[in-house]
This record gives sequence, C-alpha cells and structure tokens, in this order.
Amino acid sequence: MNNDLQQRYTFACQLAKEAGALAHSYQIKLVEEGLDIDVKGLQDFVSVADKETENFIRQQLIHHYPQDGFLGEESGESGSSGTGTWVVDPIDGTTNFLRQQPMWCVSIAYMVDGEPVIGVIYDPCHDELFSAQAEKGAWLNDRPLEVNQGDNALVGLVNLGYSAKMPLENYLATMTRLLEHGIEHRRHGSAALGLAHVAAGRFDGYREDFINAWDIMAGIAILREAKADVSFNHVEGGYAIQASIPALSDLLKG
Ligand code: IPD
Ligand code: CA
Repeated sequence: MNNDLQQRYTFACQLAKEAGALAHSYQIKLVEEGLDIDVKGLQDFVSVADKETENFIRQQLIHHYPQDGFLGEESGESGSSGTGTWVVDPIDGTTNFLRQQPMWCVSIAYMVDGEPVIGVIYDPCHDELFSAQAEKGAWLNDRPLEVNQGDNALVGLVNLGYSAKMPLENYLATMTRLLEHGIEHRRHGSAALGLAHVAAGRFDGYREDFINAWDIMAGIAILREAKADVSFNHVEGGYAIQASIPALSDLLKG
C-alpha cells in the first residue's frame, strides 16, 4: 500500500503540472479570443477551461488507476472508492483566472478512509508545485516546508475566504478579531493556493467558514505535513476550515 501511495504521489505531481499547463494555455487563449463562460451562481463561474482541465485529469486517473473513485468540482462523483478517492479542483480561483490574474491553481488530493493522504497544488503562473504525502513531508518544488513553530506570528498576516453561504457577520467578526490583535488580512480568491501559502510561510493562517472538499483536501494534506494546526469540520453541504501556525490557532478559531 505504501508503495502504491508513493506511485500515486509521483503520478499526481506530474498530472498537476500537465493539467496546469493545459489550463494555462486556455488562460493565454482567453486574452486573445475569449472563452465561453457559464454562471453557476452569484460570483460563481465556470469556463471551458475548467471543464476541459477536469476532463483531462479524470481521463488520466481512469486510465492509470481505474479502481479509484473520483470527485471533481465540475463533473461530480464517479467510480467506486474501494481503494481511495481522488478529489480534484481543476482550476481553483476561477474568477482570478477569468480576470487574467495569476492567483489560481490545480488542486489534486487522494483520500483514503476519509483522510487526505496525498495533496498536490500546482500554480502554473509561478511554476510552483506544493505537495505532500502522509508521513513523508511537504514540499514547495524541491524545498521542504515547515511552518513557524514559534510563540508568535512574525508579521501577522492571515488569508481569508468568504462564502455567501455563511452569514456576513461571521466573516466580519474574524476580520475584527484579527485587526484588534494587530493581525492583517488578505483575500486572494483561491482557497487551495491560500492553504498552500500558509504551508510555505507566506501567511500565518487561512480561514473560510463554508468551503467544498475539492477546495481544501490537497491543502490539508500539505499543511499537516508542514506541521500547521489544521481543523476542518462538516457544516451543511460542505466544510469550515481554519489552518494556521500553532501560535495563531486560538485567535483564528475565535
Ligand atoms: C472558490 C475559491 C475561493 C473560495 C470559494 C471557492 P473556485 O473556488 O477557492 O477562494 O472563497 O469558497 O469556491 O470557484 O474558484 O473554484
Ligand atoms: Ca474551487
């Protein structure tokens, strides 16, 4: 099984890079020719790039690991999850992608018994691959990652996500609490990349009160291996997540 996991990890890293290159080619085309865009909901869009990138990832996984299950943002669930399930967001940060901004990524997790044991997040615009395998460490390209284990946040910077599915008051209360403790915040619009950036020490924490599995599972695998504090719990239809350096956990949770 461990050997299988190692193979899947290596495969997922390569797959995320190939999928990232494909999605990136669509972003370049977007500037020149435009793309067909569907509106899924308020501030929730999907383009041919999201669909085609997910389709590419799914076909590769079906070909190489037909026994595994699959859950993707665009195509939903397929296959059986007897061995494990791949959880995929082909483009996380779709709004940034469509607005020709660089903060988006491909996110691929592999789950066994409900736990993410492989996490791979690829940022094609910066050629950064964040990855982890359970008990084998977390990496940014070939640099090992471990979050600040000290007593204080060095600069005090948190990345927040907002979902209209939760009361605005929750979001504002988090911002208020952080600011009252001298901690700044940003909202970059890609949860997966936000989590990866906590693992890489670019933020001290990430919080979002409603989020889907494909946005967070790869990030959770990476953050756990980078020795961050991660807590995620089920809320109706999705999850709430708080992840941070240990020194910030209590304040971030509130
Ligand atoms: C969204 C982004 C955003 C987060 C939302 C997600 P999408 O995913 O991760 O940052 O706040 O909750 O749905 O639509 O860009 O794939
Ligand atoms: Ca997403």
